[in-house]
Amino acid sequence: MNKLTVDLAAFMRDYWQKKPTVLRGAYAPFVDPITPDELAGLATEEQVESRLVTFADGKWSAQHGPFEDYSQLGESHWALLVQATDHWIKPVADLITPFRGLPNWRIDDVMISYSVPGGGVGPHIDQYDVFIIQGSGSRRWRVGSNTPAEQFVATPGLLHVNPFEPIIDVELQPGDILYIPPGFPHDGYAITEAMSYSIGYRAPNQQDLFSSFADFLLQEDAGQLRYADPDRELTNEPGLVSAKDVNDIRMLMQSLLQDEQFFSAWLGTQLSQAKHELNILTSDEWDLIPDELIPALEAEDELYRLGGLRCLYFRALPDVCFVNGEKMQIPEGGQELAHLMCNSTVLTLENLQPYLDNPVLVEWICHWFNQGYWYLASDAEE
Ligand code: SIN
Ligand code: CO
Repeated sequence: MNKLTVDLAAFMRDYWQKKPTVLRGAYAPFVDPITPDELAGLATEEQVESRLVTFADGKWSAQHGPFEDYSQLGESHWALLVQATDHWIKPVADLITPFRGLPNWRIDDVMISYSVPGGGVGPHIDQYDVFIIQGSGSRRWRVGSNTPAEQFVATPGLLHVNPFEPIIDVELQPGDILYIPPGFPHDGYAITEAMSYSIGYRAPNQQDLFSSFADFLLQEDAGQLRYADPDRELTNEPGLVSAKDVNDIRMLMQSLLQDEQFFSAWLGTQLSQAKHELNILTSDEWDLIPDELIPALEAEDELYRLGGLRCLYFRALPDVCFVNGEKMQIPEGGQELAHLMCNSTVLTLENLQPYLDNPVLVEWICHWFNQGYWYLASDAEE
């Protein structure tokens, strides 16, 4: 398995959300967890979000997948980009493992691009942090400073910025990582055929949060407390909304935001939602019953968490956890197990041993499995 050799604590202090940097050889020697053919295979799937970006005769073009055929494309100046590949390919999801010091809710997905010489998406800005891991091949990357830059539509579906003065100008080799915080323009094109793995992060803005909070209020039929003013005094400026009235209304709204449990319940459902399709496979045929769990684990199988599944918990809500946008009740005595399942992506018999003599908890583990959220596989198979 690929190993990261970087002092992440120092990286967080010096670069995270502050400035771009190149982490030379951080993931070297790097073994591609997927081949270009497998990537092209993923891009044929309806549920997988893919894009093909080409540059020819001075013109950009961007098409959305699925794609069946690349025979019209030349040998240069195009790139295939596939989102949320970690949802489908376990060795790709494993690329995130060394970055788990950043909490699950901050992670978005692993986007993979395959590009032929000259291929790339052109100069642009992203709103999110990204670690771009160079796989096979090499690419030249230029990153500018985060001075405000105007974006324009290079072709429908492709936002660009004007050429910029680079503060980083490098050729990435396999195992190198380029970290780019939000707002720094960048442009990468392949020198040879190249695979790039972008571990992207998510950060909501106020608009996202307020609109999701309002949806949650409606869904839960909450927030019915109405403004009241039993101590009102008469005014000689009936046109004025007084500072006190403004404040009272703000307080009415804020009291909902201040309700730690309600706020966490909303946040849990919001942050645990996947933005891309998950590969949830369920079938009555392979439903696991409690009697089968221990023998399966004893046969040296491991339980793996579905790639891209978000499992979160809050100190303010000790009896529940949030999985794939849903609140899940934790059975009595299962809090430690719930936290283990939210914090881990793989579980073995040894990890689960302390809980296996409690039939309720065994049943609960089977429930996760039967929902398609965890699957059994042996280490050798992965
Ligand atoms: C790419 O891999 O070509 C695009 C990655 C990015 O710029 O965020
Ligand atoms: Co980008």
